[in-house]
Amino acid sequence: MSASTSAPARDRLRIAIQKSGRLADPARSLLAACGLSWRQSRDKLFCFGESLPVDLLLVRDDDIPGLIADGVCDLGVVGLNELDEQAKARRRIGLADAYQPLRGLGFGQCRLMIAVPDEWEWQGVQQLVGKRIATSYPAILAAWLKEKNVDAQVVELSGSVEIAPKLGTADLICDLVSSGATLAANQLRPVETLLDSEAVLAGPVHELDDARAGLMAMLLRRLDGLTRAQDRKLLMFSAEEAHVDELARLLPDAEPLLRLPGQGSAVRLQAMCNGALSWQRLEELERAGAQELMVLAVEKSLA
Ligand code: PRP
Ligand code: ZN
Repeated sequence: MSASTSAPARDRLRIAIQKSGRLADPARSLLAACGLSWRQSRDKLFCFGESLPVDLLLVRDDDIPGLIADGVCDLGVVGLNELDEQAKARRRIGLADAYQPLRGLGFGQCRLMIAVPDEWEWQGVQQLVGKRIATSYPAILAAWLKEKNVDAQVVELSGSVEIAPKLGTADLICDLVSSGATLAANQLRPVETLLDSEAVLAGPVHELDDARAGLMAMLLRRLDGLTRAQDRKLLMFSAEEAHVDELARLLPDAEPLLRLPGQGSAVRLQAMCNGALSWQRLEELERAGAQELMVLAVEKSLA
């Protein structure tokens, strides 16, 4: 039985985000950029949506997958590492999948890595046979060890994994690496990558069947519009009619040129460009007859 079929219909969407930590601020900013705003509640764990019926629940990141599985929240912003770990742990005990990543969000990048004491000379995964590996990601680690055909002992720790080798509770670790500062401070060296992670928008595996479905679809459309806008630039310039065809050839990645009336024999042109616009490319356009070049960043795109 899935929570979504037994739960009563709701007309407000509920999104879980991290209360504090690496993903908290970027998650909030991204949702705000999608047009959401909230009234902060006094306990600051629940934020009532004002611009749209979309509320926020501020929680520990580790709780987010479970909240979606239980139908308490409809969406969550969480690291792929956490989502993947809990999905694998569910499968291990025979539970059906209850959430999935819907969109990568482009922040919170990190890697789940094997790290060994600095003094080890790394020769490859076979070196892990018989060793004790401390981690907060036992399910991902166990699956990886199995895939590599390595028989090692997984030591599950909920935090401070990086000091386990010094304490003697493990020989090495498997943990998240972002800047690498934590490893360096503990004389550890990353040697193998198990997972490339970033923040994702996670949602249920089954589609919602009430008012929330439309809200969710709208939110995803807005998110996609923001992502698309990130690498789009509006290029504006003017040129003599005789140069227009050549200029269009220099912009193969642009959407069709928009022509506006200009002064005299010149036309004003606009192009939406999807690729990077280097100085070199702009100078090339100038040499081909583009004048008064202007590049504008695109903030939102609804297409
Ligand atoms: C991770 C990891 C390390 C740290 C690594 O913890 O457990 O402690 O980040 O980052 P660095 O390479 O930039 O030093 P995180 O902040 O994700 O907290 P959590 O594991 O408790 O959720
Ligand atoms: Zn955490």
